[in-house]
Amino acid sequence: MLIKNNWYAVEFGHVIEDAPLTVRIDTHDLVLWRGSDGQVNAQSDVCVHRGGSLGGGKVVDGCVECPYHGWKFDDDGVCVDIPANREGLPIPKKARVDSYPCVERYGFVWVFLGDLAADQRPAIPHLDGLDETTSARADGYRAVFGDFTWQANYDRVLENAVDISHTPFVHAGSFGNRDKPEIQDFDLDEVHDGDRLVGISATVKLDPPAPSGIWSLLRKKKERELVETTTGFYPPNVTMLVVRLPLGEIRIFTAAVPIDESTTVSKYIMLRTFFTGGWADKDSRRRTDKIFLEDQPTVEGQRPELIPFDLSAELHVKSDSIQLAYRRWRQDQIEAGLGLPSQTEDDTRRGVSVIASPARMADPELVNAWVFPSIEDAGESDSHNGTNNV
Ligand code: FES
Ligand SMILES: [Fe+2]
Repeated sequence: MLIKNNWYAVEFGHVIEDAPLTVRIDTHDLVLWRGSDGQVNAQSDVCVHRGGSLGGGKVVDGCVECPYHGWKFDDDGVCVDIPANREGLPIPKKARVDSYPCVERYGFVWVFLGDLAADQRPAIPHLDGLDETTSARADGYRAVFGDFTWQANYDRVLENAVDISHTPFVHAGSFGNRDKPEIQDFDLDEVHDGDRLVGISATVKLDPPAPSGIWSLLRKKKERELVETTTGFYPPNVTMLVVRLPLGEIRIFTAAVPIDESTTVSKYIMLRTFFTGGWADKDSRRRTDKIFLEDQPTVEGQRPELIPFDLSAELHVKSDSIQLAYRRWRQDQIEAGLGLPSQTEDDTRRGVSVIASPARMADPELVNAWVFPSIEDAGESDSHNGTNNV
């Protein structure tokens, strides 16, 4: 389930070059493409003509061109060219695809999945340590990018990323210490924008195991030093892990991208303030991937696969307070009617429904100008038929 009216980090900006790209977000396909102005656009991937995938097409004359019959859609999602039409034939009003607000920031492409007008949208969260530009790293940091695919639901993946007390057990092979599993009391640091929760984090001191490999060479003292660790969550889909080591800091921002109910791709930017030469990138990536690989069997083995809506359906203890804050946030959003159900395989085989974009709400003239129903409307009716004004 997606929580609508939020900015989702869905892809790295550097991936979007000359060709359009289809990205799947919780069973809904979007096309990302970079226009001639350099801006990334995010639109529904399904062509309203015969359902071609726009991500399989080309960027031509500042438009995305469908690979099937060459219809061209501009950066507002409006079709501006139907090549098969003889000159003078009008382009139907319904020849348009939903277009979503899209911003490139901190190295990620952020897409606003929802229908709110610009002045009602929340801000993109502030990710401290990442440069706002596409270079993705603030001064003093070296960045590596990577991704990791889970056969697990995205809520489980998100919760794992902010879970503090699993470290001694799941990561006993790397930075976790089975002999020191206790978590000291910690405060939740919540950031609000009005009523809205925009970030929540907690800092704890963990007792690490003795270092190994190149890390041990840099160890200055024989005695063990506690490692200050911060985990943070920026709704709806970004998490942060900061580990402050004696030799410097590691900061990992991860966008958990839901592909469908059972598949999630974590896209991470890992920053470090030490070994800032390119020679250490491979080791950084390997160490980050190792963390995910250690988590994978545990997260994929959790039952039920989807986190329960009812908070009392699992037992929470004090050290789970960030995850609990996440569940409360999610529960509030769903109760406010903002949950968008995932499509089933049968749904996608039989019809197309899309996440309603702001243009559906903003322009009364466009009320009937959409071929595909919104997810909400599709849920109310079995009819997926639109009538083209050809
Ligand atoms: S299916 Fe897209 S142009 Fe025909
Ligand atoms: Fe973990």
